[in-house]
Amino acid sequence: MNILVTGGTGYIGSHTVIELLKLDHNIIIADNFSNSKPGVLNLIREISGKEFKFYQVDILDRENLEKVFINNSIDAVIHFAGLKAVGESVAMPVAYYHNNITSTLVLCDLMNKYDVKNMVFSSSATVYGMNNISPLTEDLPLSTTNPYGSTKMMIEQILQDVYISDNGWSTALLRYFNPIGAHESGKIGEDPNGIPNNLMPYITQVAVGKRDQLSIFGSDYDTHDGTGVRDYIHVVDLARGHVKAVEYIADKTGVEAINLGAGKGYSVLDVVNNFQKANEIKIPYVLTDRRPGDIATCYADAGKAEKLLGWKAEKTLEDMCRDSWRWQSKNPNGYE
Ligand code: WQD
Repeated sequence: MNILVTGGTGYIGSHTVIELLKLDHNIIIADNFSNSKPGVLNLIREISGKEFKFYQVDILDRENLEKVFINNSIDAVIHFAGLKAVGESVAMPVAYYHNNITSTLVLCDLMNKYDVKNMVFSSSATVYGMNNISPLTEDLPLSTTNPYGSTKMMIEQILQDVYISDNGWSTALLRYFNPIGAHESGKIGEDPNGIPNNLMPYITQVAVGKRDQLSIFGSDYDTHDGTGVRDYIHVVDLARGHVKAVEYIADKTGVEAINLGAGKGYSVLDVVNNFQKANEIKIPYVLTDRRPGDIATCYADAGKAEKLLGWKAEKTLEDMCRDSWRWQSKNPNGYE
């Protein structure tokens, strides 16, 4: 298939492009490098040994994005492009709503115009909010506690309404849990701007000596060891879930929300201890107060993905810890 991947040089996008190229799909990446580096393009070529098309374009830029549709016969779109920092979204709500939602509206308008009606959308478990009990199933009521999460929930609603207006659409709303890890080559990985918000990149920056110690946010949660429990999924497993999703929507219509998680929860201390053991590296940490907005436990019921897509996460926490460290140790300053 000819697949347009928006945000295809980002952390999850680049891993997904590699899995798609492995299966000889024809890939067109549209990215503006707002949260990635141009060097990723050659790394994708190096790892995959395959070629692909690339357009440096902001999805908000209708005129230049339309050129992608004019110059390519597109069968499906995998839409990763968007701002994704929870804390930043609280500080800059207008930027987040404009960037994430308006760009998606521009994309959908062009998809309609050029009769491209197959979409895999990068959603998030954050749409389950704080009131649902894990394991989380796709039919649960949605709510959000920050503008980033609200953009995901609103875009899911937009895509549902697009289908209601035109039953020719076929859409998968993929709700990611906690993606971590990196490609086994260590050539690509997670490279957050500034101080990492997320757990694993912070741990690997402590391990490589960029940070002094890890602060563990809260040790008094109602969990097996008091620290927060999350559903960590290897980014390569997540990428393979996208491949299955774009194949799944190809011969049908409708809209399906699908969890992409491992279906099990690990605590912060579980991750720290696994990382230390897998890599024989000590991670100094301090137990500090809870982070506002965090919940105690969040993990997926992964049954629908297995049933519909024939996909489930296969990599272990040890794999995730090893692969995260291989990326960081080979790239102490990320993509320079
Ligand atoms: C995981 C656990 C923290 C950092 C976020 C977004 C979500 C999604 C995934 C986009 C929690 C603890 C973390 C640290 C810590 N992103 N922690 N010290 O919050 O589950 O989800 O990323 O879709 O939208 O909300 O992930 O990695 O930030 O935290 O103790 O320095 O690690 O309290 O228990 P989270 P996270």
